[in-house]
Amino acid sequence: MCGIVGYVGGRNAASIILEGLKRLEYRGYDSAGIAMIQGSAITVVKKAGRVEELIKAASKVSLAGTVGIGHTRWATHGGVSDINAHPHLSSDGKFALIHNGVIENYSQIKAFLLGKGFTFRSETDTEVLCNLIAYHYGKESAGRNGQEPFLESVRKALRHVEGTYGIAVLCVDFPGEIVAARKASPLILGVGDGEFIVASDASAIVSQTRNVVYLKDGELVHISAKGFAISTLGQLDVSPVVDRIDWSVEVASMDGYAHFMEKEIFEQPQALENTMRGRFSEDSSTALFGGLNMTPAEFRQIDRFLFCACGSAWHACLVAEHLFERFARVPVEADYASEFRYRNAPLDPQTLFFVISQSGETIDTLAALREAKRKGFRVLAISNVVGSSIAREADGGIYQHVGPEVGVASTKAFTSQLLLASMMALYVARMRDMSFNDGADYVGALKSAPDLVRRALAQAPHIRAVAKRYAQHSDFLFLGRLSLFPIALEGALKLKEISYIHAEGYPAAEMKHGPIALVGEGCPSVFFAPRGEIFNKIVSSMQEIKARKGPVIAIATEGCELPAGLADELITIPDCHEAVLPIIATIPVQLLSYYIAVERGCDVDKPRNLAKSVTVE
Ligand code: M6R
Repeated sequence: MCGIVGYVGGRNAASIILEGLKRLEYRGYDSAGIAMIQGSAITVVKKAGRVEELIKAASKVSLAGTVGIGHTRWATHGGVSDINAHPHLSSDGKFALIHNGVIENYSQIKAFLLGKGFTFRSETDTEVLCNLIAYHYGKESAGRNGQEPFLESVRKALRHVEGTYGIAVLCVDFPGEIVAARKASPLILGVGDGEFIVASDASAIVSQTRNVVYLKDGELVHISAKGFAISTLGQLDVSPVVDRIDWSVEVASMDGYAHFMEKEIFEQPQALENTMRGRFSEDSSTALFGGLNMTPAEFRQIDRFLFCACGSAWHACLVAEHLFERFARVPVEADYASEFRYRNAPLDPQTLFFVISQSGETIDTLAALREAKRKGFRVLAISNVVGSSIAREADGGIYQHVGPEVGVASTKAFTSQLLLASMMALYVARMRDMSFNDGADYVGALKSAPDLVRRALAQAPHIRAVAKRYAQHSDFLFLGRLSLFPIALEGALKLKEISYIHAEGYPAAEMKHGPIALVGEGCPSVFFAPRGEIFNKIVSSMQEIKARKGPVIAIATEGCELPAGLADELITIPDCHEAVLPIIATIPVQLLSYYIAVERGCDVDKPRNLAKSVTVE
């Protein structure tokens, strides 16, 4: 959600913070702000709109100084306005605070503080926390606990807070310091030479330093140019573990593409290679994973799998369900993480949990993981972000290795999740009934995925032309069956989120139980019609749409004969094994959605109302 960044060191803090905010903008982009300690006061510049607006506003103000904090906002409490943008100042002007998360008991705290004479300018929960710190500071500096009144007042305030937070705080009385803390919102400390940068995401840090400390829930870090100290809410000291980030900032630049989403679509062949690298047995008959922390014998004891995730990652779970059941013949359930965490479902004791999350920070997925662990289940994670909260809290897992995904709409991370789901299905299948030869065929199919994706991408100019013809329609149906039903959901989600067109995904045969009422000249249906045993059934569904004058955009296997005149548009995909079909079929719907959004002039990488990682409930 929101992005936070703070700097303490010897250089001009404003330029480092503004650069960090540009990199964090994908997390939230309805407003942005910066606060710097300048002499005996805190200067705040904040603006509704993109970071560019903030940079313009900041250029008109002198922002000298070596300590500061900055924020990009994704609104939760209070509308999008300059006043609600962060940083927020306490009513006495002594503290500035930036916050990612939600303070759930803010109204009770606000009522208490109003009674103590504090005043509020914004509608945000963040300003309430800032004043709560100021309230405790008043008590601390009155001498009761006087050693480190800045740190202690933040600690005391946080003990009264219910909800989630990643925060960074400035105090005018301690001009060379930042106090930062986290609970269920990510926070990373970059450790440089005589300088420190604290941020919600490593992308704001890597251009300054690769050495990082991942803060844990309930930890505070007290930073000055001389060093930093980590402690817990309960005042225990924590010994820091410094990790090294192995990707560079260049990896996240656009390389001549018009948008990150376009770049990330076209880098999928390489991304899939990276996901697979070193993960097959020597005899190429099964998959191998280094970080599961489970022996094959333990794996064989598993009777059921439960996959949990949100958004596109949930679609990957649905594909996992299909592939596991089809090839490993083991029961699998796929659940929305946000539902699972409150559903209290009865669970077979021999269930293994998988959570899937590109960012590794999605709060609902993290909460589902924690709930499963509380119940005593082992949880494995598939995640792209090394060191993310989900990766660290899982009992074991698999990294996707596709590099940073910046576009809000997931593309390369999604197909890599499909690939890992397929590889896991193979791993489990080979422990059960799948023969050596079938395993070897399966591995061959997985290895061919990057080339098949390249062939699917070669359709881009044709798909762009199709997109131009349909870009002004306001409703779409996406219809697929079996493992391509989740890809129909994914196609509909991609189109909705980046082009704001209403779209629904359905199992193709379900269409006649309701959605067919939408069908007419104004509502195109995108059909997945791969070669296979139910090809003719899918053709019948197309006929039903056609009979109602609905335009049909067919995504069919190369060389597959559709009845003449049935499809208004034909997009082909190469023939392939079921193990990789969902991956290959995803490519045309990514391209179609992307080109439609471009045609409509939408902000593809930063669609309205969305954020890359959703760290609030
Ligand atoms: O980081 P995660 O994989 O946990 O994110 C889950 C969803 O928020 C994400 O897939 C979302 O649906 C994307 N915008 C889809 O393109």
